[in-house]
Amino acid sequence: MNNRIIELLERMPGAFVSGETISKELQISRTAVWKQIRKLETLGYTFEASRRLGYRLVAKPSKLSLEELTQRLGASPLAKRITLLDTVDSTQNVAQRLAEDGAPEGTLVLAEQQTSGRGRMGRHWVSPSGKGIWMSLVLRPDLPLQLAPQLTLLAAVALCRALKSVAPVDIGIKWPNDLLIGGKKISGILLESTADEERIKYVVAGIGISLNLEPDDYPDELKEIATSLRIEAGRTIDRTETIAAFIGQFSALYDLYRKEGFAPIRTLWEALSVTLNKPVRLNLPSGAVEGTPIGLDERGALLVRRADGSEMPVFSAETIAQQG
Ligand code: BTN
Repeated sequence: MNNRIIELLERMPGAFVSGETISKELQISRTAVWKQIRKLETLGYTFEASRRLGYRLVAKPSKLSLEELTQRLGASPLAKRITLLDTVDSTQNVAQRLAEDGAPEGTLVLAEQQTSGRGRMGRHWVSPSGKGIWMSLVLRPDLPLQLAPQLTLLAAVALCRALKSVAPVDIGIKWPNDLLIGGKKISGILLESTADEERIKYVVAGIGISLNLEPDDYPDELKEIATSLRIEAGRTIDRTETIAAFIGQFSALYDLYRKEGFAPIRTLWEALSVTLNKPVRLNLPSGAVEGTPIGLDERGALLVRRADGSEMPVFSAETIAQQG
């Protein structure tokens, strides 16, 4: 980014420059300096501010590099073709277009920021520049469409293992595929499938990881329910390392799935789940249901035990935790 405040601070690396000097050099008011600093913070710059000394540039946003990503991931069949973009509406849209044009399995689309990142149930996904991992992976599994949810569960396990490997935090999976730390969401998965006569043509697996977001990056309504790895671990987490960890975990589990089917993935998912054995209320299209999730069935549906002892398989619903 070509910003005059950054240029000025970079002329004196590590040193404080007073607000007065900045305002004189740039011929703008002190308030305008402060506003620009705040704007730069939202873009990933970090400053130390001192009332007496002024501002010091502490860190610049780290950009992903295609060269580094290719080096780290190039050998993986799930990162055969990497597209790295700066700003997109949604990486899902780009990956879908590539898949429609015949892009192979292992086509990976990443962006520094999304202007219309989307989540499950039509929700908006907060995707500020340089602070997270916003990526979509094209898969071409030979599967009937109704088994696509198994891939969502597989992706959740891969993501959970990858995040645990880059930061020592206690992460669990909330059914079907939200990753939570201390009850707050740090990551989500959106699988969009296209089928031909009930067999999957391609799947675009969208992964959003709120890696280095700060509390102010979230709108007020999300502040209490969302977090980031940086907030939880207390340090900035390397994005390239995290992407490599995810692709590594996903490849291993995808191989296992193709060899042995869903059973081992189901066991791994159940071990990482924070949903099981706690009463929930499920909002289904047919109405609300209360019960206790006890595991997954062999297709990947959540098995919910109801008060009358019956077990109900649920493929898709919004879960709301119940007290007690
Ligand atoms: C959710 O938990 O609701 C799923 C969130 C998925 C967000 C990712 S970010 C990369 C990809 N592009 C999108 O627009 N969405 C997914």
